[in-house]
Amino acid sequence: MTVQTPDPETTTPPAPGAAPAWSADDLRDDPHAKADKARRVRDMFAAIAGKYDLNNRLHSFGRDQAWRRTAVKMAQLKPGDRVLDVACGTGDLTIAMEQGLWTNDDTAGGWAPATNQVIGIDFTFPMLPLAKQKNRRRENGRETVAFLNGDALALPFPDQSFDVVSIAFGLRNVADPAAAVAEFARVLRPGGRLVILEFSTPRNPVLRWGSRLYCEKVMPWTATWVARDRSGAYRYLPRSVATFLDGPATVALLKQSGFAEARLKSLSFGVATCYAATRA
Ligand SMILES: C[S@@+](CC[C@H](N)C(=O)[O-])C[C@H]1O[C@@H](n2cnc3c(N)ncnc32)[C@H](O)[C@@H]1O
Repeated sequence: MTVQTPDPETTTPPAPGAAPAWSADDLRDDPHAKADKARRVRDMFAAIAGKYDLNNRLHSFGRDQAWRRTAVKMAQLKPGDRVLDVACGTGDLTIAMEQGLWTNDDTAGGWAPATNQVIGIDFTFPMLPLAKQKNRRRENGRETVAFLNGDALALPFPDQSFDVVSIAFGLRNVADPAAAVAEFARVLRPGGRLVILEFSTPRNPVLRWGSRLYCEKVMPWTATWVARDRSGAYRYLPRSVATFLDGPATVALLKQSGFAEARLKSLSFGVATCYAATRA
């Protein structure tokens, strides 16, 4: 499989003073129904790429990496598995998957994933050099993961080319989640596993109220003043979670799309949910 890795020198962050990807007006209606959702999502992530990790750690109180570790566990990795992490962003789940492959191999002793065994793909180019640098830093300059620029809705891989497909906080952001899940089914071999990590709304009314207060009032403020976000990303986030598929609807989508044994695990009192399913 030929893969291209991005060159950090060629990243193109949005022009200073560019209009926010999501204004308060844009978010009055369902953001998933916007005809130009893909363009807005890409502009938004291009604008926040450099501060993305800081925002994640800050706003999840550091829980986001624990949620990704749960996703790795639910992927039930086996030595030799080929893994595709879609909407990889700055590569946290991609790198965790690669680490998971190492630690799941009891025969270890010098064994390392083969070239292009673990691939991250994302359609926002400025995320990818950050992912690549993070992987290199952790691996003392070696590149153990390939990062590609590409679209979840048209994955540049043949049918049945992966054992595991993962997506963290990405399904809600694609323009057509059902088409993305169908594309994941296409590139997975029968028996391959799909793991989806996504934000969700707590079921308990008190927690739901607290989570709403935090996401709608506190987070946009800290994102603007601490992480200097001007893209509207942290107004879009709670709105896009509130209007997205809930747990049962996501499980139903997986079943309709050729997946069996779909199950979910609620994380941090329902703030996030991890789904795992097997390609039938
Ligand atoms: C919230 S970030 C998640 C990044 C990463 N998975 C993580 O765990 O931090 C969502 C990512 O989805 C990507 N994305 C959205 N739609 C996409 C698409 N159609 N194809 C590829 N990537 C997409 C965005 O560019 C962004 O990097």
